[in-house]
Amino acid sequence: MTTGTTRHFLSIDDFTQAELRGMLNQAGALKARLKDGDRPKLLTDKVLAMIFERQSTRTRVSFDVAMRQLGGETIMLSGQDMQLSREETLEDTAKVMSRYVDAIMIRILSHQDLLELAEGATVPVINGLTRRAHPCQIMADLLTFEEHRGPIKGAKIAWVGDSNNVLHSWVNAAELFECELTIATPEEYSPEKDLMDDIRRAGSAVRLIEDPREAVEGVDLVITDTWVSMGDVDAAERRRVLKPYQVNTNLMALANKDALFMHCLPAHRGDEVTDEVIDGPQSVVFDEAENRLHAQKAILCWAFGVEAN
Ligand code: CP
Ligand code: NVA
Repeated sequence: MTTGTTRHFLSIDDFTQAELRGMLNQAGALKARLKDGDRPKLLTDKVLAMIFERQSTRTRVSFDVAMRQLGGETIMLSGQDMQLSREETLEDTAKVMSRYVDAIMIRILSHQDLLELAEGATVPVINGLTRRAHPCQIMADLLTFEEHRGPIKGAKIAWVGDSNNVLHSWVNAAELFECELTIATPEEYSPEKDLMDDIRRAGSAVRLIEDPREAVEGVDLVITDTWVSMGDVDAAERRRVLKPYQVNTNLMALANKDALFMHCLPAHRGDEVTDEVIDGPQSVVFDEAENRLHAQKAILCWAFGVEAN
């Protein structure tokens, strides 16, 4: 989404395949340069404000390190400590912060609130997770898949478990990159309307079923996520209903022999995934976590209209 000439990174489906491909290429190039000890100062003196309404380890640290390695700085803010928690509007907050900082990254549960912040901001706003979407995560996931298995186009992917924000962004990516994504989720936690609309729009790229065994059969990639996302209240009931959706060695055995396993982390070992799978040879979860850093750099550079030469 853009407001005026300001570029925001809010949702995967705001972009064309070419735009995201450009960012993925940039992420790969910056990763290679970092491994060679080269840290190009593409964002010298830029200041990124980060607002966290909820907990974070990866998003928080990877954005912070990304900015530092690119020559910029960060300000870490908690929604609780800001006047936002005393009912200052998102629009006023956005207008004020736009006068101080060069970009804003926010983790906020309400996607509507994110959109309001972006509407009010005259600097780039980046979605660091809402209840609807987690687009930065999916950029890291795409980068990780392609590093291990080559082009994502046409890849057979299974999502097993809850239908949440990470799934929503994967649905958008599957449509854009022409994958074959099969979602296995129980009826009780089937996609909400907004996600359902995007699944329908994705056409043959996305299939929704209930049986996890059928979903993983012959796929190149198995993905799951926590059964209890931030903002969910019915933890015990979710664990009960989602139990048959655990990714364990029996389930993984139905996928292709060299299928990858991904999880955005944090994992709840023994719930959605077993130790054997997440610590096993098919798991790329720590590459995925590392790639948040490289993907974040590419997103920041895109937002600032900066390209590495
Ligand atoms: N995957 C992810 O966003 O992790 P954090 O919640 O730790 O940021
Ligand atoms: N679906 C999870 C992702 C955490 C990174 C949540 O929203 O809590």
